[in-house]
Amino acid sequence: MPIFATPDSWILETRNTAYALGINASGALVHRYWGPRLPYESDYPPARDYGEWSSFYGPGEINLQEYPTYGGASYREPCFKATFADGVRDTVLEFRSSEVQGDELQIVLEDAHYPLRVTLHYGVLEDLDLLERWVTVQNFGTDPIRLERVLSAQWHLPILEDYRLSHLGGRWLEEFQWVQEPLSHGVVLLESRRLTSGHQHYPWFALDRVDAPALEESGELWFGALEWSGNWKATFERTEFGSTRVGIGLNDWDFALLLAEGESFVAPKSVSGYSSAGFGGASRAMHRHVRSRLPHRDAPHKVLYNSWEATGFDVNEAGQTELAEIAASLGVELFVMDDGWFQGRDSDRAGLGDWWPDARKFPRGLEPLIERVNALGMDFGLWLEPEMVNPDSDLYRAHPDWAIHFPTRARTEMRNQLILNLAKLEVQDHLINVLDGLLSSHNIAFIKWDMNRNASEPGWEGAQEPRALWVRYVEGVYRVWDTLSARHPNVTFQSCSGGGGRSDLAMLTRADQVWPSDNTEPTARLKIQHGASQVLPACTLEAWVTDMESDRMPPFGRGEDALRRGKLPLEFRFHVSMCGTLGIGANLLHWNDSEREQARALIAQYKAIRPIVQGGELYRLKSPLTGAFSALEYVSQDRAEGVLFAFRTHMPEPVVLPPLRLAGLEPAALYRMDGLEGTLSGAALMNVGISLELKDFSSVLRRFYWV
Ligand code: DGJ
Repeated sequence: MPIFATPDSWILETRNTAYALGINASGALVHRYWGPRLPYESDYPPARDYGEWSSFYGPGEINLQEYPTYGGASYREPCFKATFADGVRDTVLEFRSSEVQGDELQIVLEDAHYPLRVTLHYGVLEDLDLLERWVTVQNFGTDPIRLERVLSAQWHLPILEDYRLSHLGGRWLEEFQWVQEPLSHGVVLLESRRLTSGHQHYPWFALDRVDAPALEESGELWFGALEWSGNWKATFERTEFGSTRVGIGLNDWDFALLLAEGESFVAPKSVSGYSSAGFGGASRAMHRHVRSRLPHRDAPHKVLYNSWEATGFDVNEAGQTELAEIAASLGVELFVMDDGWFQGRDSDRAGLGDWWPDARKFPRGLEPLIERVNALGMDFGLWLEPEMVNPDSDLYRAHPDWAIHFPTRARTEMRNQLILNLAKLEVQDHLINVLDGLLSSHNIAFIKWDMNRNASEPGWEGAQEPRALWVRYVEGVYRVWDTLSARHPNVTFQSCSGGGGRSDLAMLTRADQVWPSDNTEPTARLKIQHGASQVLPACTLEAWVTDMESDRMPPFGRGEDALRRGKLPLEFRFHVSMCGTLGIGANLLHWNDSEREQARALIAQYKAIRPIVQGGELYRLKSPLTGAFSALEYVSQDRAEGVLFAFRTHMPEPVVLPPLRLAGLEPAALYRMDGLEGTLSGAALMNVGISLELKDFSSVLRRFYWV
């Protein structure tokens, strides 16, 4: 039983961690503990009441409120704010009851005066060492209540410590960039205001102590993420009393929801954990969590070919067939036709919304191409961008009012497109019908679902509360997606938003994978994959081998032309992509016989190591963020086999690197490794390490296994 409950205190235990909360002497629900699991219930600290300190600090200031509201003399970042029908804007939540249902604790709070119920939910993921938190808000009266902030959780860190925040920043072409900064007195805000979870910040955080920093495989770390695909925010508040608190949930920027009589709203889940094994331990817990909820969790993710970087919008039956034939000969298992296949789509100026094959490009429809792809032994996949419409499309001409807009303002067209208002039921139904028709009438095994712009002029004509758009839109996307998945359970989805702009954990309960970035240059990809791997397992990270040139090329002639653009060795590019779900995105017509031969061998090798990469545990041995050498390792769940990848970009001599120590092995077991004579114990591989000789811009892939 992972939940110990008394009428006024609760301890939630996972295999190695614990979280405790309780009612203090003043009747307030407060946080008690978050950290390693302790031997006895009596070990957990009591629910403290720090009382009122002075006329400048109300009781809510110092107490570690579990779910603080806007109200009273409190100036901290609240989790909740509502305006009642009479204009009162304070919320005063009082404890009413609690209930344990299996692995879930529910704590029911109600406003002292108004018919507002807020239920705090805690889901204990015992084996994963993770805790989920979310809230349900209910109006059990008759007058409407306007919700203006509903965060999913507030997490408190042990007090009187200085913390360092790690998070993932970025932009288009540079997603998942690793950022670390100390928290000082005040509030740090990470967020998205763009309608998607965004390229700029990923809804994930990790905090460690400044004076005892976590390392890759050791040290204490408190981490968490939000499972939501739209506007979100996370605040990191360090108070003048030395407490540190994290609020995470829906963004309250331009946000409001109207709860009418009897209505409820369920906020998205936040998931968090405590690791005593540093960043590696935290990310492996997240990987297990993400993998356990993928729609096709046990299926290997296929090696795909995608035509986008090869053909752009210039697709047609003959050209795609030619690419498919080469792809199949290399061992590709899934052929995906990207943008450009549908009505009027010769550039990004037209066509979005008209989801039927362009008769000029596919005079016989898609069926002959799909049949050929299937005859070649591959599945067929298709690109869609369902949420969008080009003004130059039949859909827009029929329904101009379906696009998100303010009637008196010009509609900002980004990439010449507008966003359909998926908050509207009729728009959702239209998409369900059209896409269901497409999937029902073709043998389509895979959909790349793209979303290529951010929102602007967020009007919603006729809505009682137009600011609900930010939330109702995302719920609309979920409804369309979930309905299609239910009707076509064998279809695999990939979530893309101009690369990794919508790669959040809620998407990854609908899509099996994400497209992390439009940047496929391999040294940039190493960094992107490094950041993404903090949260996302390799099986979710689609990684194409392309011909994108690098500006970090070998200094063939040292001196003036030391850095120049060019392609890195094909093997290097493959090895980078083999650290995720391997795909090919190059123009195969441009690859000569020897490149194709090499590709064929590497694809076969990937298929052999795929179960380890996609289902194993990741150890980041050497980060690609510093220096010119990086390495990572995947180990099968039973530790019986693994695969080591190492990459070297340019660096001065020596060519022989310091010994590289592996991780996660069985100390007493004997392992054999490609390229090494004899056998070594797991303990030797982990403590002594192995020597690698790596020249500039070269990489190695080495398998190892028990003997
Ligand atoms: C953005 C995606 O990230 C690309 O891979 C490609 O699908 C284009 N959209 C197509 O318009």
